[in-house]
Amino acid sequence: MSNLQKIGEVKDITRIERIGAHSHIRGLGIDDSLEPREVSQGMVGQINARKAAGLIVQMIKEGKIAGRAVLIGGEPGTGKTAIAMGMAQSLGSETPFTAIAASEIFSLEMSKTEALTQAFRRSIGVRIKEETEIIEGEVVDIVIERSTTGAQKVGKLTLKTTSMDALYDLGAKMIDELVKEKISAGDIIRIDKASGKVTRLGRSISRLRDHEVSGAKVNFIECPEGEIQKRKKQTHTVSLHEIDVINSRAQGFFALFAGDIGEIKAEVREQINQKVADWKEEGKAEIVPGVLFIDEVHMLDIECFSFLNRALEDDMAPILIMATNRGITTIRGTSYKAPHGIPVDLLDRLLIINTSPYTEKDIHKILKIRCEEEDVDIADDALTLLTKIGLETSLRYSIHLITSASLVAAKRKATEVSVSDIKRVYDLFVDVKRSVKYLQEYQDEFLYETPTPAK
Ligand SMILES: Nc1ncnc2c1ncn2[C@@H]1O[C@H](COP(=O)(O)OP(=O)(O)OP(=O)(O)O)[C@@H](O)[C@H]1O
Ligand SMILES: [Mg+2]
Repeated sequence: MSNLQKIGEVKDITRIERIGAHSHIRGLGIDDSLEPREVSQGMVGQINARKAAGLIVQMIKEGKIAGRAVLIGGEPGTGKTAIAMGMAQSLGSETPFTAIAASEIFSLEMSKTEALTQAFRRSIGVRIKEETEIIEGEVVDIVIERSTTGAQKVGKLTLKTTSMDALYDLGAKMIDELVKEKISAGDIIRIDKASGKVTRLGRSISRLRDHEVSGAKVNFIECPEGEIQKRKKQTHTVSLHEIDVINSRAQGFFALFAGDIGEIKAEVREQINQKVADWKEEGKAEIVPGVLFIDEVHMLDIECFSFLNRALEDDMAPILIMATNRGITTIRGTSYKAPHGIPVDLLDRLLIINTSPYTEKDIHKILKIRCEEEDVDIADDALTLLTKIGLETSLRYSIHLITSASLVAAKRKATEVSVSDIKRVYDLFVDVKRSVKYLQEYQDEFLYETPTPAK
């Protein structure tokens, strides 16, 4: 009995889910006429910035802009990253969206420009249109036997649709494929003629009454109609980067999963650009410019910025969105200062969106949404106190208090976070202001002081 209980406890612990800082953002919360709703899709206030972001999303969707760059600038915690995430959500899965933090460029085992090039090419989609020949039908019979010499397997496959049936000879490769997919009579399958790939679409509905032992996942479908051999139009979108990787390594396709990519040769990229241009000419492919989001962009250095200038002029450039919370500051790798730490020649190309600090009402709403997102019940007066804290310190700090306060509440077996829980965690975890005050008070006792310049 005690054993059983233990298992129950363990299960409970593993059920805790990690919730990301922006998990409540489901879009930009904008209506059809591009007007931001006050609270929608997890987004609150910040109306101007959201409206501007919505306009950009609209232009991207209509294919009107490419090679443009946008900067979201504003104080820490004013929703810059949140707005970028909202843009990604409202663009949908068809438009490639790559998000990186500028500092990642320096921590990869490749040069900065290679890392940036890869990020750019990840953000450009190639929509490939293909007409493939397929064989589709219900398996009536499948016979596999060794040939008379015993060395090779031979087989026959009978397929049917509601209007016809056909018998196929099977080669060794196809037999392997069918065995691997565990295809048997009664399955409805599709064979791609060019690649020989076999897909099981489901099980024939006529088999439903056979009282077969079947797993829960079995999908019963109707026997297909018409011809067994058909042509089918298919489109799929891959990024330029994926094409680069597939073509640059001996292991080809699998390199994508191995994660070990390394640097890609310039010649490979040139060939691929040429190939894609040819496909475009022949009507086989379209370019889908996506979005590259570089967060904390002031962390880039002067070389990276000059790379960006060039890269934005490329025919196949994606839309570049950057965010920073810096004011006038030094451009990394130089001794000059510039607005946002970005060189003026790049700044000149940017559309700039500003975010502004939140009002008490906005903070209240955001905190409420976060409590719902984290499944935390909170008393009204506790939420009011948390809002006050958010206003005095920072939105982020008050968001962080939600989780810890709910743990404190749970410890005293309460179902709702109360004012006392908020007070408790406010005392346990200091915000920046209090931390600075503490540091100033006890400065002399800390180990490292600012060194006084030598005389
Ligand atoms: N308008 C908003 N609606 C809903 N949630 C928001 C909004 N703005 C910010 N948030 C949430 O508040 C937190 C802080 O915002 P965010 O991280 O986007 O700030 P930031 O401007 O990127 O700050 P930093 O300059 O420090 O990177 C996040 O959890 C974010 O999801
Ligand atoms: Mg941010």
